[in-house]
Amino acid sequence: MLKAIHLCAGYGNLSILKGLSFHVAQGEVVTLIGGNGAGKSTVLKAIAGQIPVSDGKIFFKGRRIDGLPPEKLVRLGLSLVPEDRGLFWGMTVEENLMLGAFRLRLGSKKLKETMEDVWEIFPALKGRKNQEARTMSGGEQQMLAIAKGLMSDPMIMLMDEPSVGLAPILVQEIFSRIDILRKRGVTILLVEQNVHHALDCSDRGYVLERGRIVLEGPSDQLKANDMIKKLYLGVQD
Ligand SMILES: Nc1ncnc2c1ncn2[C@@H]1O[C@H](COP(=O)(O)OP(=O)(O)OP(=O)(O)O)[C@@H](O)[C@H]1O
Ligand SMILES: [Mg+2]
Repeated sequence: MLKAIHLCAGYGNLSILKGLSFHVAQGEVVTLIGGNGAGKSTVLKAIAGQIPVSDGKIFFKGRRIDGLPPEKLVRLGLSLVPEDRGLFWGMTVEENLMLGAFRLRLGSKKLKETMEDVWEIFPALKGRKNQEARTMSGGEQQMLAIAKGLMSDPMIMLMDEPSVGLAPILVQEIFSRIDILRKRGVTILLVEQNVHHALDCSDRGYVLERGRIVLEGPSDQLKANDMIKKLYLGVQD
């Protein structure tokens, strides 16, 4: 469904991604693992059209998408839940969700249906629909960010560290929502520092170091890998 070939991108003259090739098949959950500054968010930004691709190609559903603007990518079915959550802080939960669907120009019936669907996955948000995003807790904001991403009815969601900064119980909650999405057939490319949980809920993973993929494989293989155990799972020898 999503395929990058020799992807190179960066900021101005600064080259960050140095020729990455990876793919995500339909229905898969794939995790990108890597330390701070490895380039994980940059990968998601390059796919979502937020920074230019300097070399290489990205394909989505067989179509070349590098160089397309973000709003076009949303319409094609690609949704990014960014690291900074991407919420409109002064607006309510409901307004944020409506803005998540804005680029699709849905009729009011379809919009309502989509929103009902999202309430079903995140019932706690429904009770807070008139609350301003900025007054919500970190966990609620992150649920809202994912919910907003779902409003564009995406085929693939790119999620940038959805569990970052949350208490363990909320981390569980976030991963249980990701599991629900996966069971509904949403394809997910996930960036996580919470490597244990992320590998538990994903099919495959890629390990990124300084803008390059240094390891890839099925999640259970990665979990058993010595380097991963030591560097990312905190397992001692
Ligand atoms: N807007 C920017 N301008 C210049 N350099 C940037 C910009 N954003 C990120 N970088 C640099 O690109 C590199 C990769 O950053 P990126 O945000 O992709 O890392 P990351 O793997 O997501 O890290 P983290 O786990 O800390 O979120 C870093 O060295 C960072 O300083
Ligand atoms: Mg990041």
